[in-house]
Amino acid sequence: MGVSRGAQLSVIVPTFNEVDNVEEIIERVRRVLHEIRWEIIFVDDDSPDGTADKVKSIAMLDPQIRCIKRIGRRGLSSACIEGMMSSSADYLAVMDGDLQHDESLLSTMIDIISKEDVELVVGTRYMEGGGVGDWDKKRQMSSRWATQLSQKLLGVSLKDPMSGFFMIKRHAFESCVGNLSSMGFKILLDIVASAPKPLVFKEVAFQFRERHAGESKLDQRVIWDYFLLLIDKKLGSHIPASLISFGIIGSIGVLVHLSILGFCLNVFSLLFTSAQICAVLGAMFFNFYLNNLLTYRDQKLSGFDFYLGLIKFVLTCSVGAVANVGVASFIYKGYGYWVFSGMAGILVGVVWNYVATSLVVWPKKRPKINA
Ligand code: GDD
Ligand code: MN
Repeated sequence: MGVSRGAQLSVIVPTFNEVDNVEEIIERVRRVLHEIRWEIIFVDDDSPDGTADKVKSIAMLDPQIRCIKRIGRRGLSSACIEGMMSSSADYLAVMDGDLQHDESLLSTMIDIISKEDVELVVGTRYMEGGGVGDWDKKRQMSSRWATQLSQKLLGVSLKDPMSGFFMIKRHAFESCVGNLSSMGFKILLDIVASAPKPLVFKEVAFQFRERHAGESKLDQRVIWDYFLLLIDKKLGSHIPASLISFGIIGSIGVLVHLSILGFCLNVFSLLFTSAQICAVLGAMFFNFYLNNLLTYRDQKLSGFDFYLGLIKFVLTCSVGAVANVGVASFIYKGYGYWVFSGMAGILVGVVWNYVATSLVVWPKKRPKINA
């Protein structure tokens, strides 16, 4: 073996539309890290603002800068995982690309992780010396609440499991990687909850700063992803999270169905069959709309594709409805228990709808590579 010259630390920076932050973040990291061989790996999801081009133009001149550009994909956690998987360094750090995380902490973190017997160092907002800057009351409350929920439900003892700023030994990360859910925003929580044995960690305080340039990508759907991550971790991945999401939306869809049915009968005085048809169509639209927004947000259909998807969804689910009635009637004729027969029909219908729509309406896109 020759003299080791590879990076000892990879700083993974997930980016989506962060073009105006790239140069600043590189310069600040360069100022902070001296006694170690480091690299920055930007993982960009084909940002329309040209973040990846900007990174690559710097990388052409500087081998410490790398870029992974993902096509047809979105997701903060999965981007971080792919960045970490591409590294051969002993230590991996994850840091946002908008300078909200205090990069000067990287040197403290590397000091701790290389000298002490810890596998993970977490930048924490919720301890003496840390803070969330001028977040409004609502965001502070929801962050606290989400933190407590994960601590109680998953038994996580970190003070700030929602933090996206941490450093981990590569072998520790690789021991968790097979169990990761890799969805949503909460990569640290995912790692800690996936570890085969509890990771030895240390926490260091930092002040969550104002965003340097650009806009936040955090929106309401992140909350849904967060709940799915908790459920996925709790159920040990026996059921795919997208099926759970599909099932929850379907259950709410039943209420929507009954509300429309009652409304059509009582307010518009429609005949039962007409009211039921309206209710079925209304519930199908509701299911399609929410699944497109939440379950399949990474493959969200819009414009013309939205309407095409809606038609495919209605047709596919109609087959599911026929299967539902067929199975239920068959079992009812044989055994006569109506609740059992009805439930069996629903189960077959839901599984059919889930599998068939995932193939027909939201098929996994293959990136178009122009060779
Ligand atoms: N590759 C990729 N793909 N990067 C993404 C995506 C995506 O789909 N979505 C967001 N990012 C990048 C952003 O460009 C940014 O560098 C970083 O992930 C964080 O995203 P922000 O939009 O700035 O989120 P935030 O500031 O609201 O969230 C931060 O606070 C949370 C705690 O409240 C992040 O640090 C989270 O990790 C943290 O959990
Ligand atoms: Mn941010």
